[in-house]
Amino acid sequence: MNHLFFLWILLPVAGTMQVRTYPQQARGWVRKSTLLSCYFTSPRDTKLEDIAVRWAVKSPGALRTVYSFDGNRTECDRKETFLDLSLLENGNASLYLKDITVEDEGEYTCTVLITPHVGHSKIALKVTAKPYVSLEPQNTTYFHGEIKTFFCIVQNYYPQEIELNWLVSGPDKEWVLPKTYCTSDPALNTDGTYSVKSQIALVLNESDSGATTYICEVTHVSLEEPARGRTSIFLAPSQAIHTDTGFIVGVAIGCVLVTGMISVLFSVLYQKRLAEVAPLVSPIILPALVIANEKITFTCNINGFRPKPINIQWYIDRPKQGQRSRSIDTPLLCGEDITHQAQHLVTKHGSVFSATSQLFYTPTVQDDGATLVCEVEHKALHATVRQKEKINITARPKKCYITSWPLVPQLGERLVLSCIVEKFYPMEISLTWLKNGQLVTDVTSFGPFLCEDDYCSIWSQTELLLTEEDDGLIYTCLINHMSFGKIEELNYEINLKGTPPEVQWIIAEPQNPTEGEEVMLRCKISNFSPPQVTVNWFRNGVQLGTGVCNSLCVASARGLHSMWSMLRFPCQAQDHGSIFMCQVNHTALKNCEERSYTLSLSGKS
Ligand SMILES: *[C@@H]1O[C@H](CO)[C@@H](O)[C@H](O)[C@H]1NC(C)=O
Ligand SMILES: *[C@@H]1O[C@H](CO)[C@@H](O)[C@H](O)[C@H]1NC(C)=O
Ligand SMILES: *[C@@H]1O[C@H](CO)[C@@H](O)[C@H](O)[C@H]1NC(C)=O
Ligand SMILES: *[C@@H]1O[C@H](CO)[C@@H](O)[C@H](O)[C@H]1NC(C)=O
Repeated sequence: MNHLFFLWILLPVAGTMQVRTYPQQARGWVRKSTLLSCYFTSPRDTKLEDIAVRWAVKSPGALRTVYSFDGNRTECDRKETFLDLSLLENGNASLYLKDITVEDEGEYTCTVLITPHVGHSKIALKVTAKPYVSLEPQNTTYFHGEIKTFFCIVQNYYPQEIELNWLVSGPDKEWVLPKTYCTSDPALNTDGTYSVKSQIALVLNESDSGATTYICEVTHVSLEEPARGRTSIFLAPSQAIHTDTGFIVGVAIGCVLVTGMISVLFSVLYQKRLAEVAPLVSPIILPALVIANEKITFTCNINGFRPKPINIQWYIDRPKQGQRSRSIDTPLLCGEDITHQAQHLVTKHGSVFSATSQLFYTPTVQDDGATLVCEVEHKALHATVRQKEKINITARPKKCYITSWPLVPQLGERLVLSCIVEKFYPMEISLTWLKNGQLVTDVTSFGPFLCEDDYCSIWSQTELLLTEEDDGLIYTCLINHMSFGKIEELNYEINLKGTPPEVQWIIAEPQNPTEGEEVMLRCKISNFSPPQVTVNWFRNGVQLGTGVCNSLCVASARGLHSMWSMLRFPCQAQDHGSIFMCQVNHTALKNCEERSYTLSLSGKS
């Protein structure tokens, strides 16, 4: 009892104990071990069972316990974690972490509890992994003037920030290449480390042979000095073959007939069946208009090659912002690999092969100005063959229409007509108004203006004061935009008698009635003005007086009217095959509108 009382008094006063970690920041290498040191001053005669230790880590996810010891039992929540208990009584609570991964990074807290004393200290662990740099192809041969692509692969490094440069080293100096290469965004590996790939395309000439080394240099926090990948290049020997003429002539003459015949036979066979033949690669075939958000087929034909194995890749090289017009001839190949969206079909023609590669790609307006590349590699080719095509994207307007204000033209009033074209690409467009085929000059335009992403919209307005002569005038809005491939035409007829109705097709309910069942035929008449309308129904040309029922006219917010007209009757056997007609008359219509419907009873054909 006394003892316990003493503890309670002591707790607020002597509650803290000095715990030290050293250094404040530790560095750990991926797949290696590290020691997180932690020391404390233990009161005299402290036994092991009086000491409790806890190591916890705060990593971006959460706070978790890595190791704990309660005086008797240890618990490790991380594999390969080790604390030497025999050193605890001497005040050493250092923790060993073996086989470090990226996940081990975080702020560690070492807490020591020797009741009633408690203390803790923090140590931050930074994990790093050295990049592995490789350069491909290694010590390769080339032809004079060949464009060769070199790849620098930087693997399994951490943290993410990295700097990569391409250098060239000549016999007596070394210089950094201009930034005409492209480096991918770092890719995250499953173990939390990163990898990047950089590629550069270079035109190689004779003077480069042997003397020139290409270097890919990587600077990273894990490296004391930059890591380098290197490759040398060697000019391929020319094809000339030097024959030794010091051959015994007599033997030669003796053998010449036999050899000659064999070699003739062999070379015929060789030329026909075995010799390697390089493919011919066609330019990329694409439609005249590449419409945004529509699946487009791009084709590359590869003809007459042997042997069969061939490698076909597709890339799209998108322009960077504000750089829409990069020359297509730049050797730089900076594309995204989109080969997975292509299908290749290899067929045999006699003794050679042909391939058709089709790329199914849905471009967006952001792809405008991009270069599409079809790349072919084959054993018989000295160098990779690339066909390139710059693609210009267009997007058809989402909507084009003419509206009038007011909606129903009034004699003696002003009428404003607007031709509205919404969401198209590219921005170049022209709108022209015609009045009965004559150019209208009194036009006000708004736009084209950017409305969403890269899409544009435009309005064009013309107005007139309505006189009786204007009745029947036709206004035309001509839209000239690349995406149509022709000039699109919208028409508006001035109708001082009102707006004629739109009459829809007749709907039957039920569609195939049985004999004796009641059937209803409906006809929708919409968007007309003034609201007076006459509807007549006919059966096989004979007007019907009974069974017709019209709904009330409903006015829409736009000031136009709509209604339904219905014909209801019990179905009889002789109705099968009868032609029903709904006839609509309106003051704004020149001729009445008619819609027919042939009734068919269920079970009859
Ligand atoms: C110590 O741990 C063991 C099992 O690991 C258990 O059997 C024992 O009872 C514990 N002793 C005390 C004093 O808690
Ligand atoms: C503390 O313990 C670790 C092992 O857990 C050991 O490597 C280290 O040298 C010890 N420190 C001292 C000062 O003895
Ligand atoms: C490439 O050539 C260099 C010297 O020119 C040599 O040290 C290196 O081992 C070669 N690499 C390969 C893969 O042959
Ligand atoms: C060969 O290429 C290098 C750059 O790689 C260039 O400096 C040199 O002038 C070229 N030589 C010839 C003969 O084109």
